[in-house]
Amino acid sequence: MELCVALDLPTMKENIELIQKIQNFSLWLKVGLRSYIRDGKPFIDAIKAINPNFKIFLDLKLYDIPNTMADSAESIMGLGVDMFNVHASAGPKAMTAVMERLKPYDNRPLVLAVTALTSFNEEEFGRVYEKSIAYKADQFAQDAHKAGLDGVVCSAYESASIKDLTAQHFITLTPGIRPFGEDAGDQERVATIETARKEKVDFIVVGRPIYKDNNPAQVVERILLELNQRL
Ligand code: C5P
Repeated sequence: MELCVALDLPTMKENIELIQKIQNFSLWLKVGLRSYIRDGKPFIDAIKAINPNFKIFLDLKLYDIPNTMADSAESIMGLGVDMFNVHASAGPKAMTAVMERLKPYDNRPLVLAVTALTSFNEEEFGRVYEKSIAYKADQFAQDAHKAGLDGVVCSAYESASIKDLTAQHFITLTPGIRPFGEDAGDQERVATIETARKEKVDFIVVGRPIYKDNNPAQVVERILLELNQRL
């Protein structure tokens, strides 16, 4: 299981200060929509300048017509990131178009699909998709697997069943992790490292428990110790 730190601070300066504090660890860093819109490629370059071994997950959740998604995926190739994501609800054709477009590249990033956004409740989700969240999350994961994507973004509690439905090597990445049972903040359903391990999660995304702490490096070290001690 790998740790991915969410860079969700309000300015590039604060994100860079956080990265400098944790620069000696082998980590994934998550660059989200807000940071990327505001700080763009110079932010990606600044991260790599601090430590070229950092792996970057560009969390832009692409959703558009197949050709535009494929064009965007190809542009992402030029950013030097290691993972990005798309919405599974853009459809099997769009996901297939993305993977076809990236085929000629032997160093392509990992591509994940977002299944159901966790901000939905059943009622609102039903209004948009006319099915239950659980039903569509499984279907989206199967669509993503068939389209040749590498994995999905999902809740820690869905990881093992998604692997059973698709393949054990199909990657699961889960936000909403409170490594040692810290404050949930605005997350409805949180999971500890222990749950993530039982659910065979491949990547945990952790934001606030790290960047809100007075000593982010110490929290990262504790998490990595916990991850490596009990592989
Ligand atoms: O601070 P916290 O650890 O809750 O951060 C979780 C990160 O994962 C944030 O960047 C948040 O936007 C993202 N995320 C999430 N739930 C999802 C998808 C993404 O919390 N379903």
